Amino acid sequence: MPYPSITSLLALVAPELAATRQYLLNLMPAQTQPLMESVGYSLSVSGKMIRPAMALLTAKALQETSVSETQNGGLSEKAIALSAVAEMIHLATLLHDDVLDDADLRRGQATTRFQFGNKLSILSGDWLLARASQTLAEIGYLRIVRIFSDVLAYLCDGEALQNEAAYRLESTTWDYYNRKTFGKTASLFAATMESVGVLHGCDEPVIQALRQYGESFGIAFQLIDDLLDYTQTSETLGKPALSDLKQGLANAPILLALESESLSQVERDGLKNAIEQLFQLCNPVNGCENKPALAEQEQLCLAIQTCLLKANAVEETLRLADTYLQQAEKSLEVLPENPAKVVLKQLLAFNQTRKT
Ligand code: IPE
Ligand code: IPE
Ligand code: MG
Ligand code: MG
Repeated sequence: MPYPSITSLLALVAPELAATRQYLLNLMPAQTQPLMESVGYSLSVSGKMIRPAMALLTAKALQETSVSETQNGGLSEKAIALSAVAEMIHLATLLHDDVLDDADLRRGQATTRFQFGNKLSILSGDWLLARASQTLAEIGYLRIVRIFSDVLAYLCDGEALQNEAAYRLESTTWDYYNRKTFGKTASLFAATMESVGVLHGCDEPVIQALRQYGESFGIAFQLIDDLLDYTQTSETLGKPALSDLKQGLANAPILLALESESLSQVERDGLKNAIEQLFQLCNPVNGCENKPALAEQEQLCLAIQTCLLKANAVEETLRLADTYLQQAEKSLEVLPENPAKVVLKQLLAFNQTRKT
């Protein structure tokens, strides 16, 4: 059980989450043996399942007021399928992202790209996107197909934006960060929540509020993902730690430190310099594999972390995430009071304390 803290939090939808897992595992087979093995491997290593869980909890919260078809008093098959779509698309982005990031570790295991190579990792991601499209067609709501088609474009834009700004601190503005974060992460949370509202025949203001919950949560989720990259070890994270800076990404804690009043102007300039030097050393176009360069990288990382500490970057990132979570909580007012809504609120607090 890799993520015990979230498992107990999601007990209310445990049977439905198990059905979603089963739905994913039943997606096999792909047409060729290598693709089958690579997709099978990717699906066999589960993550936190937070997007499907959010969809299922929302479906449950809407159940009493909803017009959707239910089965055996539980959630409809369509709600399960929709939650599986969210995970398929998410997993596809991870398979692609790990190629972009050259990552060897994901969910505590070797990445698909490490195990099967970049080509199969990309193809497996594509295959999952194709399966997600088929599932959407089967669910049969044109608006939901449209919502997720938009997400695929947002996801590409987000990764492309990140790629364009990599190793270029001068391009790393808050405007860039917010657009990238919406594209890469929040758009999928937003789409998942909006679609559940559509599936359940909710009124438009309810659908929009659900979408807003997903979007605000998604931004806060990425802020904490950025933070954990600095504060956790690879072992806890199940994926490489301290990797964003080395990938040329100045994420939220850095942006906050660069404008922190807890640092003097000289210290802020020193931080900026250290990041620029690190980017220079880590940028593959400059070739960065020799030993002295690696030792210098470590020294720069240490200097940067010292600045982050002095700038209270951890607290500031948590505070910023909290402003988005408060918006998310407000959006939940449209839901009737019930246990599923309580868990949707608890997910907000979980985000602030999670270690993975
Ligand atoms: C990781 O997402 C990528 C981001 C969008 C930050 P998760 O933290 O949900 O990854 P898994 O599915 O639990 O591995
Ligand atoms: C994950 O982004 C990929 C998408 C959200 C599309 P990150 O690069 O921040 O996620 P990790 O840290 O590798 O999980
Ligand atoms: Mg990554
Ligand atoms: Mg990350």
